[in-house]
Amino acid sequence: MTRLTRLSRSVAGARVLVTGAASGMGRATAQLFADEGARVFLADRNEVSVRSVAGEIAAVHGPQTAGWNGADVGSDAERRILVAAAAEWLGSIDILINNAGISRPSTVDMDDESFTLNWDETLAVNVSAHVHLARLCLPLLSVAPHGGRIVNIASTEAIVATRGLSAYTAAKHAVVGLTKSLAVELGRRNVTVNAVCPGPILTGMTEAIGDDARQKYARRKVPLARYGDPEEVAHMTLNLCLPASSFVNGATVVVDGGMSVSHT
Ligand code: NAI
Repeated sequence: MTRLTRLSRSVAGARVLVTGAASGMGRATAQLFADEGARVFLADRNEVSVRSVAGEIAAVHGPQTAGWNGADVGSDAERRILVAAAAEWLGSIDILINNAGISRPSTVDMDDESFTLNWDETLAVNVSAHVHLARLCLPLLSVAPHGGRIVNIASTEAIVATRGLSAYTAAKHAVVGLTKSLAVELGRRNVTVNAVCPGPILTGMTEAIGDDARQKYARRKVPLARYGDPEEVAHMTLNLCLPASSFVNGATVVVDGGMSVSHT
């Protein structure tokens, strides 16, 4: 078919590293990229689950579509092993999805030891890992055939704040700042960097909240009156990685059913 436009809306053949891919949005993102013809390398410190998710993808799309590694992205040594393993298995890395994240309580009234532990771990996993992985992947991203792509998963906690989550909120605000900073620094290296801010999404992270409390929260706060599905976020993440998204750089895209613009 003759086309009137030139930019491709396909990620077929792209080589993608997704962190936190054993569950929730990371899993949905890896599955979506594979469905669209990309080859994916899944990283997660939950080794049993990440191997199983890679197996699910390989069973549908073939053994060469999904590799995995049980890295803790908060560890410098494990990040280095992860990127080397992903580069070897995929042949290179064109797209990095910094998705792995944790949520730990961090109220001012906590005892010092617990607060410091939660603060340090949250910052290490939710934002420091992103920049270190970006640095490690950069030599490969900058030679990606359609331009390299980094998508950082932030949160609506990067825009507003929930009581008792100062570490998470600080980290997610930092993810947006980091995204802008890397976007201006890496533009000349042929790499775009964007952030996605999901609202409440039904994943491992929000499972413990319980059905009733989730429904109540969604009816009160979300114009669409429901939690989002991980796949609804994965599609936005993939959009930012299309060759056709070549001029989208430094953007923060909210996927929250309208929650953050609602004044009621
Ligand atoms: P999830 O808990 O279902 O998945 C997170 C995955 O990251 C898990 O498989 C976990 O094992 C992995 N992980 C955690 N720490 C890790 C580490 N140090 N190294 C390697 N893997 C690690 O959670 P979900 O919701 O899918 O989270 C994905 C991202 O979305 C996170 O960055 C989270 O902060 C963010 N987010 C989640 C929202 C939600 O409502 N579920 C809302 C806004 C943002």
